[in-house]
Amino acid sequence: MSTSPTLETVSTSVLIIGAGGAGLRTSIELAQRGVDCLVLGKRAHGDAHTIWAAGGINASLGSLDPEDRWEIHAADTLDEGHFVNDPTAVETLCRRAPDRIRELEEWGMAFDRTDDGKINQRYFGAQSFRRTCFVGDRTGQALMNTLVQKAMDLEVPYRENLYITDLMTESGRVAGAVGFDMDSGRPVAFDAEAVVIAAGGHTSLYRRSSSRPDENTGDAQALAFNAGVPLRDMEFVQFHPTGKVTPEEEAGHLVTEAVRGEGGRLYNTEGERFMERYSPNQMELDARDVVARANEREIREGRGTENDAVLLDISHRDADYIRERLPRMVEEFAAHGVDITKEPMEVAPTAHYAMGGIEVDFETAETRIEGLYAVGECTAGVHGANRLGGNSLIETIVFGEIAGTHIAETLGTRPGASMSEAALRGCVVAQDALGSANGRHTPEELIGRLRRLMWNHAGILRDEDGLLEGLRRLQQLRADADDLLVQASRTSRRYERAQNLQFMCATAETILRGALERTESRGAHARTDHDATDPAWRQNIRCIPTGDGEMEIDVEAAGTPSRRVQRAIDEDHELDYHHLE
Ligand code: FUM
Repeated sequence: MSTSPTLETVSTSVLIIGAGGAGLRTSIELAQRGVDCLVLGKRAHGDAHTIWAAGGINASLGSLDPEDRWEIHAADTLDEGHFVNDPTAVETLCRRAPDRIRELEEWGMAFDRTDDGKINQRYFGAQSFRRTCFVGDRTGQALMNTLVQKAMDLEVPYRENLYITDLMTESGRVAGAVGFDMDSGRPVAFDAEAVVIAAGGHTSLYRRSSSRPDENTGDAQALAFNAGVPLRDMEFVQFHPTGKVTPEEEAGHLVTEAVRGEGGRLYNTEGERFMERYSPNQMELDARDVVARANEREIREGRGTENDAVLLDISHRDADYIRERLPRMVEEFAAHGVDITKEPMEVAPTAHYAMGGIEVDFETAETRIEGLYAVGECTAGVHGANRLGGNSLIETIVFGEIAGTHIAETLGTRPGASMSEAALRGCVVAQDALGSANGRHTPEELIGRLRRLMWNHAGILRDEDGLLEGLRRLQQLRADADDLLVQASRTSRRYERAQNLQFMCATAETILRGALERTESRGAHARTDHDATDPAWRQNIRCIPTGDGEMEIDVEAAGTPSRRVQRAIDEDHELDYHHLE
């Protein structure tokens, strides 16, 4: 039961919420510059969602295709983002990516190599050249190992099993954050001069997703929104074309795009290689939104398997090559009796990535609240309407370095803020009240309902009626969440889920509202009642908090690329899939 244990208070210069690639890279930059910081993770050190990233990390190194350059990487990113990305963010990402990869190499990341010793690069969807660097199909794990080791070498302090419930601000400036220790059950207040949100995405909101259980629950977006920061592009949710369908407990888990990057082909149950109909030039390596919708359509039109899946087959390639390039896939499928060197995998679309999120200034990674920063999947802008595979890992590294640098350069130069005692007490009282809630609905029941609601009403295909019905059901679900049954301490999984539910509802509303507002189809946002892309909609939708969880919707024209990148766009580079055959 929740009995209000005493409040613990902690002081640090910079608090980093989230301990995946983005949080760790930020902390490394700070530590290298002599700034005191503290990294918080909801799980054990090194155990963050980043470890599930599989197929690779992008940079225009030109190891195999020397004609590649950062401007073409930027052109591909904008093109596949359908030109609603933030051009500054894209250009910064692509220009800085090669240096960040070389730095990771220096720090010991064991990239796969070409025969002549260069960092190897593979094809990934909708990229004009081979620019995805990789470590087999465990790139995220290798990245995390490298960053954790580096952070440990620099003695970056880390706190495990820590859940943040609220950000504290005073007069437009961040003052710290409040949460609870999931081991001791004590509420904790962190007093900090700067706070970095690096807590990932929200795709656990969907019935089938590639997220880890109880993670990616929209905490980052809801924390920022509740503190007064606008969210943007929330309607853009990436559905990865190839998630597992069996066994049930693994449904939605990723079957890496590297399978297709290494030559994997998609078939329906009629034996047809159906991408020939949807995308004869780029085939299985067209953009994720295109391939995901093709898979969905084949399944909906009855050409899928009895498990509602299509078939992904790489068995035409040499078995040793498959084992070398895709060891994790080989192992995971073998554990369930499928030998992918000999037979196809059943796959179907799965919610995978949040393109939308917290609005930041990409030159600094700062939000509109002074001293509050955001980095990685929780932000909006780099990916526009559809993310290129391999761009998420590099985003964490590039913008982690930028956030760390800006914080180090500005810390102590601006007036500080202290946490209000009354606000602090309010947070702890709310934590206590949640633990003793004795209503009729469990968090598990409501989260299950929410996940079905989002899958059915804000999924891969949307329309106005469905979105309105989704909003109506969300309102009902929120009313039921006011009648919650928790009766559990802060150390329990049930209590964690009760907290998650609040963040999930807040984030879900911004997705539904954004999707309703955008009356066109663009990238991952596919409206069956507005199936064309409307040039007038080259705009970003912003959800602006007005207090008490309410929001206003605003639109803003998307930015234009620099002349240099525009030239690369006009050159019209495109992957020729048939190189792979
Ligand atoms: O399919 C994958 O390996 C995913 C990579 C990514 O989302 O960047």
